[in-house]
Amino acid sequence: MKYVLANFKSYNLDLPAYLETLENLLKPATAPYVGIFPPLLELGLLENTYTRFYLGSQNAYPAPEGAFTGEITLQALQKRQIKSVLVGHSERRLLLKESDSLCIEKFNFFAQHGFQIVFCIGENLEQRQQGEKTWLKHLLGQLEGLDLAYPKLLIAYEPIWAIGTGVSATSGMIAQTLESLRQKLQPDPLIVYGGSVQVENVEEILDLDAVDGVLVGKASLDPHNLAKMIDISATKEFA
Ligand code: PGA
Repeated sequence: MKYVLANFKSYNLDLPAYLETLENLLKPATAPYVGIFPPLLELGLLENTYTRFYLGSQNAYPAPEGAFTGEITLQALQKRQIKSVLVGHSERRLLLKESDSLCIEKFNFFAQHGFQIVFCIGENLEQRQQGEKTWLKHLLGQLEGLDLAYPKLLIAYEPIWAIGTGVSATSGMIAQTLESLRQKLQPDPLIVYGGSVQVENVEEILDLDAVDGVLVGKASLDPHNLAKMIDISATKEFA
């Protein structure tokens, strides 16, 4: 099975009902490969007793605890047995001005504490249009300083122009991008794709050898949709 990660961003769902539905739809074997990233306030209210998927945090601040108003820190996550964190989602990089160096600092801190880290990278439309030299340089720049040998690292390649737009990158483009990127990365990391993944296109994307899973936003807000994508992913194997 390949990874299916669901990012609920700041959408307002009836989360306990959603997660109970999902738990009932899935088989136990999916557990290590299905990660759910709920809005942070609600993550803190959940029991975290699910067996078909794990819960992760959409963000975290690289400190044990302290004077970091509005942030969520290591101890808050540990108290709730949360062991997975998204770092550097493009919405945070763009809207909250998270820098490459802060993202690397977060990676280093949470890696030290054994977290699974979903490290997000992606180019904007202008960089894409300027051609391979530009987007590859940008993607490699975002990865600079990252320990690719960290065993719980998942890189999420999410072209900014494909996020929330309903227009996914084509499978040809994803394959070409990830093949170019992988040639420069040693050791070869796990990479998931994100950006308008839907029930209709998830199979084509998961069929790519260069893709180890998907990170789904909008289309994951319906548990039946997400369960369908997970069922499809359960039939796929890592290349
Ligand atoms: P989307 O979001 O599936 O709604 O495009 C993906 C993401 O931002 O992770």
